[in-house]
Amino acid sequence: MRHLLSTADLTRDDATDLLDEAERFEQALTGREIRKLPTLRGRTVMTVFYENSTRTRVSFEVAGKWMSADVINVSASSSSVNKGESLRDTAKTLRAAGADALIVRHPASGAAHQIAAWTSGGFGPDGPDAEGTGPAVINAGDGTHEHPTQALLDALTLRQRLGSIEGRRIALVGDVLHSRVARSNAHLLSTLGADVVLVAPPTLLPVGVDEWPVETSGNLDAELPGADAVMMLRVQAERMNGGFFPSAREYSVRYGLNERRMGLLSDDAVVLHPGPMLRGMEIGYSVADSPRATILEQVRNGVHVRMAVLFRLLAGTESGGAL
Ligand code: CP
Repeated sequence: MRHLLSTADLTRDDATDLLDEAERFEQALTGREIRKLPTLRGRTVMTVFYENSTRTRVSFEVAGKWMSADVINVSASSSSVNKGESLRDTAKTLRAAGADALIVRHPASGAAHQIAAWTSGGFGPDGPDAEGTGPAVINAGDGTHEHPTQALLDALTLRQRLGSIEGRRIALVGDVLHSRVARSNAHLLSTLGADVVLVAPPTLLPVGVDEWPVETSGNLDAELPGADAVMMLRVQAERMNGGFFPSAREYSVRYGLNERRMGLLSDDAVVLHPGPMLRGMEIGYSVADSPRATILEQVRNGVHVRMAVLFRLLAGTESGGAL
């Protein structure tokens, strides 16, 4: 694996190996007074975020530091992006400055793929001169497209809570149209053998969803009794250009997970949310804090999954940032 850009690129064995690796990191660190492994000493990991983030940026930084990598956070608002530098020039600059891994969040779908293409090969003015070199690129969320490490940490949480993913019925509920989490989860969970159902108003389903490996439904009440897990998606108002149909109130009434709807779930079913949550919109206040909600477990698993991904991409490879 050179990069992690999409869960659609992962085979079942790839994904299972990453989840197993994440659990090994969790076990290696549990109970340790000092959570520091020498695994990535001398490696330089750069996070490059053009959109806001709490969980993803922080957990990548923690993951890198717990493996002794040098972690540098590049924020668009305080970089030369603010002076008009292009994404291509920024990416090539960070590669020339010594990045072994670029962890990228960007509002444009496909940005991480593009950066992987721009930063592969050599530095010369004549273009790439060494195929296969350049930093590993990790997609930390590109527009409405993909967020692969989120899907991996969700899968790890489901595997730990349910015991297995194969044959489980997982409902992804809400604003699927704008959700990179939904697309990454739909591919990964079906690769791992789950039955995935998207529950959403027709206006919040993407064009081409009939080609995804999922079922669709507009009736949340009907889907809850048969679900082993329900993943509530954030309503992404920032991607709606001021319009929101159905209305926020109607959405909350028809697609929000409230106390009454929790009563429709089987006793063992669990509730996930990738965060940030809009309490009172897609998820009720008490639902988010219930023992069946896995939200903080997801965050914790995010650190171990990102350690596993960095380990797989960087350990045992030559430093890609050296001139
Ligand atoms: N789930 C997620 O991507 O959260 P952040 O936007 O806080 O990183």
